Amino acid sequence: SQPYMAEKHRPQFHFSPKAHWMNDPNGMVYLNGTYHLFFQHNPGGTTWGPMHWGHATSTDLLHWSEQPIALYPDSLGTIFSGSAVVDKENTAGFGRNAMVAIFTYHNQKIEEAKTGLHQYQGIAYSTDEGKTWTKYKGNPVLPNPGIWDFRDPKVQWFEAGQKWIMTLATKDRITFYSSPDLKSWTKESDFGATLGAHTGVWECPDLFSLNYNGQKKWVLLVSINPGGPSGGSATQYFTGSFDGKTFVPDNTSTRWIDYGADDYAGVTFSNTGSRKIFIGWMSNWQYANVVPTQNWRSANTIPRELRLADIKGQAFLTSTPVNELAKITGSVNNLYNVNVDKEFDLSPQIKPLGGKYVLNIEMADLQDLTLHLTNAEGNEVIVGYDKVSNTYYTDRTRSGNIEFEKSFARKTIAPRIATGTGLSIKILIDVASAEVFADDGLSVITNIFFPGEPLNLVHISAKEPLLIRKIGYAAVSSSLK
Ligand code: FRU
Repeated sequence: SQPYMAEKHRPQFHFSPKAHWMNDPNGMVYLNGTYHLFFQHNPGGTTWGPMHWGHATSTDLLHWSEQPIALYPDSLGTIFSGSAVVDKENTAGFGRNAMVAIFTYHNQKIEEAKTGLHQYQGIAYSTDEGKTWTKYKGNPVLPNPGIWDFRDPKVQWFEAGQKWIMTLATKDRITFYSSPDLKSWTKESDFGATLGAHTGVWECPDLFSLNYNGQKKWVLLVSINPGGPSGGSATQYFTGSFDGKTFVPDNTSTRWIDYGADDYAGVTFSNTGSRKIFIGWMSNWQYANVVPTQNWRSANTIPRELRLADIKGQAFLTSTPVNELAKITGSVNNLYNVNVDKEFDLSPQIKPLGGKYVLNIEMADLQDLTLHLTNAEGNEVIVGYDKVSNTYYTDRTRSGNIEFEKSFARKTIAPRIATGTGLSIKILIDVASAEVFADDGLSVITNIFFPGEPLNLVHISAKEPLLIRKIGYAAVSSSLK
């Protein structure tokens, strides 16, 4: 059989498991120079099944080494999503700097028989930097109080209150708990039952603070399935304040970290100081189990740095690929002041990049822009900006294999949030995905696709003569090992 890196549709610089099923990133934590990525994993197949925590490590967020499975199901249930912290002060008594994972137990027997409530929180610890794990004997540490959907704990040390804070998805809202020792938890408050999108269950929250105009502002991420802006799964966010007890939102608007179809259940690493690094699952529950890959299913988004931008006095979240990406990016070539009169073929420049590349477009004026990413078979992904609606979009309607699920062929649209007179778009292409970061990550659109061969041709079309101030392109090399 062929090496895993040569498999059809295998991303070359995004993390995907060598074999079998993956969904949400879990327990992302940084310790002693190493980034730890755990993930929802079914080692028994290529579809969702009994959940374990897979494990991979990296020193640069791009070159990942898969490690032995970290957490296996036990008599309390299978291991659903959650987080990990470094217990610097040994509050839990497992050892100074122990890594502690806080996760949801999902009890399939109870779920099927409906004899009780099937989700509750447990913890496990590692004193050898994630190599081996021990489940805490007192599990569950947070029993189910009577809510069927009760999961995905994201835990952080809340310095101002000298306590741990757990942000938990509880069906149609977020519930905050606090603890002195990660073992006993007290409810602090509920948030969101009447705010945000509510057409699906709330899942995989995250709460963290970012600098905003020199002050601390809190951001609450909430994934929802279904009910995303492009159908199925997506992640909304709120900005506001948090005092260790209650989250108070700045406003009532519903905003999305990514408007594409394929960025779900994303959260940030813990223990990275003021830097907030986000990774999402690059799929969607509408079709994740049937995408046409053979030996594995799903990849992650590129790791993204999150920041807040001030747009007319309101805080908006921005996502941009981490700077580490430059390490595997070749030298950037730029074309300046390109006039597009009907069509401009960029294929001679893009073809040598082998279907994995970064493309940057900068325009001084807001004008319709249409980029056709294609291959010799005629498969096509369109990325564009539409001036009348002031939106960015990605259209994968003719992207190759679209037959596996009826709603996969779709156009996904993001509002333009930036207010400047020009626009910029950064596109990351990696075999089976396009991540579009417009206006320094204010409008983001991530989509996967399955072309017959990589999309290594690009042409730009224009209904009216178009002036592009700058087109930059560079190859991204494989980070698989
Ligand atoms: C989100 C999710 C989580 C859950 C996990 C199960 O995609 O449904 O809420 O913990 O997947 O694999």
